[in-house]
Formats: sequence, C-alpha cells, structure tokens
Amino acid sequence: MDDDRFSELRGRLAAAGSVCVLTGSGISAESGLPTFRGVGGLWRAHRVEELASPEGFTRDPHLVWSWYAERRRAHAQVEPSPAHRALAQLERRAQRFTLVTQNVDSLHRRAGSRNVLELHGALREARCTRCTARRPFDESFDLDALAHDCGGIWRPDIVWFGESLPRDVLEAAFEAARTADLMLVVGTSGIVQPAASLATKRCTGAYVVEINPEQTALTPLVDRSIRARATGVLPLLAA
Ligand code: APR
Repeated sequence: MDDDRFSELRGRLAAAGSVCVLTGSGISAESGLPTFRGVGGLWRAHRVEELASPEGFTRDPHLVWSWYAERRRAHAQVEPSPAHRALAQLERRAQRFTLVTQNVDSLHRRAGSRNVLELHGALREARCTRCTARRPFDESFDLDALAHDCGGIWRPDIVWFGESLPRDVLEAAFEAARTADLMLVVGTSGIVQPAASLATKRCTGAYVVEINPEQTALTPLVDRSIRARATGVLPLLAA
C-alpha cells in the first residue's frame, strides 16, 4: 500500500486532540484467531444461542465453559499482531486516545494499549451469577467445580446476546466517541449494537475511517473506508 494514500490520514492523526478506535475480531484475525462471521468463523462451527446466551448457559453450563476454555487457550497461544502493536504506539503519541474493543481476547492489553474499554467483557476472569465474587479464569479453573459457596455458579465474564453491556464501560465508550476528532473502525462487521452505533454520526462528530478488507454495514456511513487488512494500514500510520 503506497504511503501517500495515508499522508492525509497521518495528518489527521497528528492534528487530532482526541482519537477513538473501535475494533472487532478482524484485528485479531492476523494473530491467527478466527472471526465470528467470516469463513471459518466461530459462529460457523457452533450454534450461537447454545454458547453465547444466558439460556444456553443455564441449559448446559459445562458445554459453554468448555467452549470458552478452548477459546482462552487459543488466545494464550497467539501473539498480538503488528496492528495491535501499532494501536498501542498511536496511543502513546496521541493527546487523548480511547480504544473501544468488542474483542475478549486481551490482545490489545498484551500489545501495550492502556486505555482499553472491553465492551463485551474478557476471558481473564469468571464471575459469580449470584454475588459479586470474581476469580481468575486460567488453567487452574476447574470446569467440574462451578458452584460458588454463595449458592451461585461461576460464569464467564462475557456479555452474551440479550444481556446489557457494563454501564460504566458503555458510558465511557459513548463519551470517547462523542468527543473524538478522529475515529478508526478496524476489523468489525458493524452489525452488533450498541458497539457499531459508536461509529455513526448519531454518536460521533469525528472524521470516521474504516479499515477492513470487505465492505461492512458501516461502510456507507463512514467518511472513508480503506479496503485493506489492519496490518496493511495501522503499522504505516504508526511508523
Ligand atoms: N483486518 C481487518 N479486518 C478484517 C481482517 C483483517 N485482517 N480479517 C477480517 N476482517 C473483518 C471482516 O471483513 C469482518 O468485517 O473483520 C470483521 C469481523 O466481523 P465479525 O466476524 O462479525 O466480528 P465482529 O464484528 O467483531 O463481531 C462483533 O459479535 O458475535 C458477537 O460479541 C461478538 O464481539 C463480537 C460481535
């Protein structure tokens, strides 16, 4: 990708007082993790309602935990991509920078990003369905010991379809979108709400740039859509 395509965008980054970035599973595709809806996507191999919903969890908590344990192990076996690392570099240079992600793979944090809002939770902890107890979700987590002594059971710290997003995280994300001069939307199909709405003119007055090898639901709504992979653009912006 020749550089002068990005000189205007570099200029916008340098001039921006506040940058907001929205990412989806596509930015982790180049780390080797499957997306949700693309070819080989996670939703291709499983039925969504069985695994990522309160009903599915109630019906078979062990199956749901087994799936998340498999995903957590996959996350631990990959590295942040050059795109994740580029966003951490851009954050260090920006006056104000907020990274809003739909991903639960912790790769932005592992890449060094600091101000990360995880809209859909993360696979680092389990939380109790009944009380506020939390515990690490790591190799020591026993899928056959899901009962918590308060009478509840451990559940993944993930937001499932039909559940509301953590209020404080969502409010911070809307505030970041509202005050942003520049927004980058990277690796999301833009169909899951409320995350996708952050990139629409209803939520932001920023100049919005999408980076995605494919067209998405957001493509008609953004100011510029760059048809490319995240690692084909972000490292050039951060260079
Ligand atoms: N660089 C940039 N974008 C990419 C790349 C890449 N290398 N590879 C794929 N993509 C794009 C795809 O074109 C697609 O638009 O990433 C997007 C992935 O879309 P989805 O699979 O729908 O994932 P996402 O948008 O993150 O899903 C949102 O839905 O299932 C729920 O909670 C889950 O957080 C998830 C939410």
